[in-house]
Amino acid sequence: MCKFYIKGNNRLSGDVNISSAKNSVLPILASTILADGVSVINNAPNIEDVYVLCDVLRSLSAEVTIDKNNNIMIDSKKLSDKNIDNDLIGKMRAAFLVLGPLVARLGKARISLPGGCKIGARPIDLYLKGLKSLGATVKEECGYVEVTATRFVGGTVFLDYPSVGATELLMMAGAIADGTTYIENAAREPEIVDLAMFLKKMGARITGAGTSSIYIKGVKKLSGATYTPMFDRIEAGTMMIAAAMTKGKINIIGVKEEWMKPAIFKLREMGVKINCNGNQMFVDGDVDLRAIDITTMPHPGFPTDLQSQMLSLLCIAEGTSTVKETVFENRFVQVPELRRMGADIKIIDGKVASINGVQKLTGASVAAPDLRAGAGLILAGLGAQGDTEVDNIYFVDRGYVAFEEKLAALGADIERK
Ligand code: EPZ
Repeated sequence: MCKFYIKGNNRLSGDVNISSAKNSVLPILASTILADGVSVINNAPNIEDVYVLCDVLRSLSAEVTIDKNNNIMIDSKKLSDKNIDNDLIGKMRAAFLVLGPLVARLGKARISLPGGCKIGARPIDLYLKGLKSLGATVKEECGYVEVTATRFVGGTVFLDYPSVGATELLMMAGAIADGTTYIENAAREPEIVDLAMFLKKMGARITGAGTSSIYIKGVKKLSGATYTPMFDRIEAGTMMIAAAMTKGKINIIGVKEEWMKPAIFKLREMGVKINCNGNQMFVDGDVDLRAIDITTMPHPGFPTDLQSQMLSLLCIAEGTSTVKETVFENRFVQVPELRRMGADIKIIDGKVASINGVQKLTGASVAAPDLRAGAGLILAGLGAQGDTEVDNIYFVDRGYVAFEEKLAALGADIERK
């Protein structure tokens, strides 16, 4: 099993190009099977989850080819769930999104319920309630869900929580339904806007993506389309925090300032200097970091996917910070590992972390508990005095393209062995 070996305390500097977004490419890939045609998703990120989803699409008889530049061609003219690979779907939550397109195309689907994971139970009650509002019958039994709808019928769905996945699934289901679907209290994440852009290129009639009210006017059928997904705002935020963690100066290329605002404002509040210019952000972390308070919220609030990385940074900020995690129920999993690095963190009733900043963290052997907590530990190692070993880095490979190469190119002493 590979580990990252990090010698901390190098100031990072230079340019870094941001890859396309895992959390946009995955729903977009799932939605390609809505069309009985050929779609091309260009510049897909070279990460494990993309290849798993491609294998799921192949198990649905779609023809999927990936060229050397990671441009993915999906031909979903022939679609069948005869050989659906439910083991794969059970392993990767985002694969569950094929449910909407499958029922829309085949009238019925029986797929494995997504597993929970360390960060929380991650139920799908809102997904299923939404599909019922679009005229589907839904049966859950022995770890599977069976959804039947000869044709989705447009309806109104009020999401009790602005769930990203539920919004994405219902946008896909409503795209080829009879009538108009209204999703109220919809998620507003940029990845929703990106998926809507792709669906519109396929011929879907969607307005309001990015707001809490999304309207989808169902059409008869969709055709394949070619698309380049948005940049990964979580990778971009992670690199911003890397600059602050190491008192470095990093120029982050290929971003959209509008969608980086939560990270920009909270890091500026800590004293980090950030200069935005077109699709670039210059981050100067050579400052004395101040303690701040963070509460994670659905977009446009502070993203839960940057919480672990910020938690590591707050360990070396002057003063006492608090982090309130409101999106997932168990997202402080790397705190015990940070304590081994000298962090002074208390968890109050599982929801709030109180952090007393220390001068420096010290290197230690730690293990990544999940994708974003793993990224947080790597950042902690970059800023720490001494050597840090990070185990279970396969978690990190699921969400970051060539993470150690990009960090090493910025001057980090990090090796995969
Ligand atoms: C997406 O997950 C992202 N994953 C997550 O990123 C991200 O953390 C999350 O959105 C929030 O931004 C992908 O896009 C592939 P949700 P998703 O449905 O869609 C509750 C990463 O590290 N909920 O908005 O699963 C749920 O339990 C990953 O890249 C219900 O209660 O997120 C959670 O507490 C981690 N019932 C909250 O909503 C439901 O039916 C947010 O979940 C659905 C969700």
